[in-house]
Amino acid sequence: MKIVIIGSGGRLGAALTREYRDKFDVVGFNHAQLDLTNFEQVREKVTAFDFGVLINCAAFTNVDLCEMQREQAFQINAEAPRVLAEICREKKAKLIHFSTDYVFDGEKREPYTEDDAAKPLSVYGESKREGEKLVLHTQDRHLVVRVSWVFGPDRPSFVDGVIKQARENEHVEAIADKISTPTYTRDIAQVLPQFFENDVSGLLHFANAGECSWQEYAQFSLDCCRSLGIPLKAKTVGALKLSDMKNWIARRPVYSVLSTTKYIAITGSTPRGWRDAVGDYVREFVPR
Ligand SMILES: NC(=O)c1ccc[n+]([C@@H]2O[C@H](COP(=O)([O-])OP(=O)(O)OC[C@H]3O[C@@H](n4cnc5c(N)ncnc54)[C@H](OP(=O)(O)O)[C@@H]3O)[C@@H](O)[C@H]2O)c1
Repeated sequence: MKIVIIGSGGRLGAALTREYRDKFDVVGFNHAQLDLTNFEQVREKVTAFDFGVLINCAAFTNVDLCEMQREQAFQINAEAPRVLAEICREKKAKLIHFSTDYVFDGEKREPYTEDDAAKPLSVYGESKREGEKLVLHTQDRHLVVRVSWVFGPDRPSFVDGVIKQARENEHVEAIADKISTPTYTRDIAQVLPQFFENDVSGLLHFANAGECSWQEYAQFSLDCCRSLGIPLKAKTVGALKLSDMKNWIARRPVYSVLSTTKYIAITGSTPRGWRDAVGDYVREFVPR
């Protein structure tokens, strides 16, 4: 099976490229090799290959910058995925496109299902939602996988930032009133291949199990470090409020836990809990 991975230099794309290199025939494109704002180049470079699956991990992911660069956000997060979906349709290949919990407004207090209405609060969320629609409208064989709070070894994320802060400072704080679920790139990489050749399509949510605030996520990460003997100056994580984040430009959903009920029904397997996943990550990748 030949697989093309777009965004192979990013947190998720790099993880998938590494995990699949020995199992599949993988061609990866990072940002320098393929610019998604240049549709002509995208067509030319991607159609040069014959492949069965194209995985799009590339996105304009800076949520605040998207507010100021709306056109760019829609080009990368919506129009480019449409072009990729068209190429895949022409090649009779399946597109697996990643999207986000930020398509929801966060008003619910129980996990969002694939049937819940997407009402994005930000340009990032709007552009990602438009990308989902364009991909699924182009070809009903394609799959859009929404994930939340992605972490992994290929690019620093929240967990790495909080551990770094705790190494350097006695006081660390994180937002206590924003809830979702951390999701490990390795877990995404493990579950995705079952969708390469089956006919599962449309929207699908995937996240590690459980839910937490950023403060709980941060506290658990520090506790893992402590149990491994990683020296930290900070022991506990203080609480910040979402409303304290005065320098944030984009609005973010307060609650964006993704329900994996559909995923469990289709696959018969349950994602492992976020604590197990974060624990494994800290054990393996956080420098002592
Ligand atoms: N990170 C999260 O917490 C999170 C949460 C929910 C959903 N997601 C979704 O998961 C997917 C993967 O995200 P991630 O965490 O891996 O993000 P990431 O680390 O920011 O990776 C995105 C990649 O896209 C590339 N890119 C940006 N503009 C591009 C362009 N014009 N042409 C080609 N490549 C371009 C980036 O390259 P440069 O770095 O060189 O710009 C980067 O390598 C995305 O669809 C994202 O929306 C992420």
